[in-house]
Amino acid sequence: MPKRKLNRREFIKRSAAGTATASLAINTATTFISNAQSSSANSRVNVGFIGVGARAHQLMEDIRNVPGMEIVAICDAYKGRLERAMERTGGRAKIYPNHKELLAAKDVDAVFVVTPDHLHKTHVIDAVTAGKDVYCEKPLTYKIEEGLEVIAAANKHGRIVQVGSQGVSSAAQQKAREIIASGRLGQITMVRATNHRNTASGAWIYPIPPDASPETVNWEMFRGSTGQKTYSPERFFRWRCYEEYSGGIATDLYVHLLTTIHYVMNAQAPDTVMAMGQLYRWKESRDVPDTLNGLLQYPEGFAVNLSATFNNEAVNERGFQIMGTEGTLEIGGKGVTFTPSRSYDDNGWIVDSWPSKLQKAYYSDPKVIAAERPNRQAQKVLSGQERWEEIGYGDAVPHIQNFVNAIKTRQQPYENAVVGHRAAAVAHMVNLSAKYKRPIFWDRDKDNVKAD
Ligand SMILES: NC(=O)c1ccc[n+]([C@@H]2O[C@H](COP(=O)([O-])OP(=O)(O)OC[C@H]3O[C@@H](n4cnc5c(N)ncnc54)[C@H](O)[C@@H]3O)[C@@H](O)[C@H]2O)c1
Repeated sequence: MPKRKLNRREFIKRSAAGTATASLAINTATTFISNAQSSSANSRVNVGFIGVGARAHQLMEDIRNVPGMEIVAICDAYKGRLERAMERTGGRAKIYPNHKELLAAKDVDAVFVVTPDHLHKTHVIDAVTAGKDVYCEKPLTYKIEEGLEVIAAANKHGRIVQVGSQGVSSAAQQKAREIIASGRLGQITMVRATNHRNTASGAWIYPIPPDASPETVNWEMFRGSTGQKTYSPERFFRWRCYEEYSGGIATDLYVHLLTTIHYVMNAQAPDTVMAMGQLYRWKESRDVPDTLNGLLQYPEGFAVNLSATFNNEAVNERGFQIMGTEGTLEIGGKGVTFTPSRSYDDNGWIVDSWPSKLQKAYYSDPKVIAAERPNRQAQKVLSGQERWEEIGYGDAVPHIQNFVNAIKTRQQPYENAVVGHRAAAVAHMVNLSAKYKRPIFWDRDKDNVKAD
């Protein structure tokens, strides 16, 4: 199979083009363009982190590879995470007691919101209101309606918001988008996307640090406006397992799949969503499903089949299959594979059941010879499989680089608040459908779920 590498330089070249064309996918009614100049338009971007948990530490490592960005401020609800973040920044960041005080700091140009999902809306809206540009981890929202509030706030304050499904800035997904746009796959009517796991930490049973206690954890900061008043280390460190803080598989994993599908297919949102979810195995540890299947129908002319279980890693079924009449595109394993369709028409076994006289006449009919025999007799010989592989950078580096570019140019990045809202909204629709056991519909004009 021929392999081609996508290197970092190629990524940088393509990402600029990708961002420009990607913006075409966004409904102009809800697009916002920020005209406000960042204080660091041509200089270093000073960033603060609201939340320095597990993901934030990965992002902090990636930032080391993004020129022109410096971490100057951090806040968190657990002491141990702050200590580690100070180690990681070489003691250069300043610790703030809460996100409001961090946002009041004049030397902070932009913030990374890397808190649990139920806090994203508050943290993003407070940040844009304070004049900061925002990189918010996925999912942008905890509930559908929050998306429109975030878009309105970012619009009003002229701020950049980029959501953190980093895959869309990868060279692989840009390549996938390019191939699909070229028409090489023919008519695409179905996309399959999966993310299966079979381990405790894959199922979000994360280790709890031995010093965790009400003295080291600020439960009120984490709790926000949610119900449970008493400190629970399970809820604090494994919040994805509880619907009070998270939408489970749909908002943790599907939201990445959806962002990618919307990006590569140049699509906005499905008009209909149906889903089923069950908790089969990890019953002691959660109130969200461990097995979830979703079916989505897009007005752009294709259907999506999403699935995830935490009870088998399904080694042969990971990533995306984009299925067209002329071939299949697979995105996975840090690369893209195109496999041409080898379908050919073999109706011989049908004609074989006819009286011999008719069979003979059929095959000597010049129309049949022209239309069917060439395909029937010889398998279509098409060019072979092709694969493109990414090399050369860490997980979120290109996405963070796109965020820096957006801050400096004041051009919205592809995964702005509108795009983030739609991906999260579809994940929430999956959960609503599974919960109420009925289809959920999208109102494209209102960019919102259809009211009952
Ligand atoms: N893009 C990706 O691939 C990716 C990967 C992992 C996680 N994430 C996202 O990152 C976010 C964080 O996930 P995580 O795995 O790091 O969780 P985590 O629990 O490890 O980190 C969250 C941190 O937020 C802190 N926090 C809680 N309330 C706070 C408050 N009011 N103010 C400041 N800090 C507060 C917690 O103390 C904790 O350290 C989630 O939205 C998750 O979906 C994205």
